[in-house]
Amino acid sequence: MRFTVATSLLAAMAVAKALQSPIQFASNSEPTLDQLWGEDWPFNGIQTFAHLNYTKCLVDPETSFDIGVIGVPFDTATTYRSGARFGPRAIRTGSQRQTSKRAFNTRAGINPYQDWAKVIDCGDIPVTPMDNELALDQMTKAFEELLLKRKNAVDGSGPPKLVALGGDHSILLPHLRALNKVYGKVAVIHFDAHLDTWSPSKYPSFWSSDQSKFTHGSMLWMANEEDLLSDDYNVHIGLRTRISGKDWEDYEDDDDQGWARFSADDIWINGLGGLKEIVRSINERIPKDYPTYVSVDIDCLDPGFAPGTGTIESGGLLPRELFYLLRNIDVNLVGADIVEVSPQYDHAEITATNGAEVAYQLITSIVKQGKK
Ligand SMILES: *[C@@H]1O[C@H](CO)[C@@H](O)[C@H](O)[C@H]1NC(C)=O
Repeated sequence: MRFTVATSLLAAMAVAKALQSPIQFASNSEPTLDQLWGEDWPFNGIQTFAHLNYTKCLVDPETSFDIGVIGVPFDTATTYRSGARFGPRAIRTGSQRQTSKRAFNTRAGINPYQDWAKVIDCGDIPVTPMDNELALDQMTKAFEELLLKRKNAVDGSGPPKLVALGGDHSILLPHLRALNKVYGKVAVIHFDAHLDTWSPSKYPSFWSSDQSKFTHGSMLWMANEEDLLSDDYNVHIGLRTRISGKDWEDYEDDDDQGWARFSADDIWINGLGGLKEIVRSINERIPKDYPTYVSVDIDCLDPGFAPGTGTIESGGLLPRELFYLLRNIDVNLVGADIVEVSPQYDHAEITATNGAEVAYQLITSIVKQGKK
């Protein structure tokens, strides 16, 4: 009897002690500061893309990386609603539930942040909103700085791969200019509701200047004029906007610039079989080792999934269709972007979250293709 009472007393004291100090650590040894405070919840911390390490790469030539996420907060080449200069911030916010510890991509079978590649957030390119000629120069020089003068981490040979966060779609032109200096012409896979191969003369103004040619609907026309694009491997996916005039002249111009076109209807009309067929035809069209760029205008998605963008068009892709295509297109990816996220028109972070998912899938694809 006494024995039982004493045992119960000891047990009760142990419980009381445990209640006094409810904190328990996994190990008996003194924890390090990093163990105590090193890990963040998704809602903690300064917002870098996916909580990746941040280096302002443009001013730090010593930092090497394999994949750099680079913000390009520029939106003064828009033709309708502006606001995409806040896109990089919004996409970073939308990416906060991605952390390197919890980013295993079940569709790809890898965690892109814990694989061979060093992936970092390179910060933003400071771009003037006052003068587009100067802005285009700044962006061109910045992309050249990052692609021509930085070494990747794997073997010290350059260049790294960049995933650009727009900004309006015109930021593609300076990126292609810099890529041209590394790889020569590149094929562009262009997800968009719009062609963006429009000659500036298609815009409703009698007035023009050199600077007025540079718009988020003409940068692919400019890229073609500058001989940056592959002769005939380029592909549009998600088209559905109205075009000029009373016949197919815009499409004929687009043909002349070496593009194949898949409309938003092409994506769903034959179901999964149709999607697979589109993947097959793109993978067949672009030679395996040909340098290829993937550019995702968030307005390829239906406005229901991407209200926060400048030039919304009804009747677009579902996010799952976009991600299916991004995962299955098998090309030599040398650069990529996600553009036209304009958070002022967003609500519930829908567009920003889809934008962040696009960036994650693009990074996954670059990691998955291996060291090149
Ligand atoms: C960030 O940098 C720290 C310190 O260099 C390093 O230990 C950590 O692995 C890096 N994190 C990622 C996700 O690369």
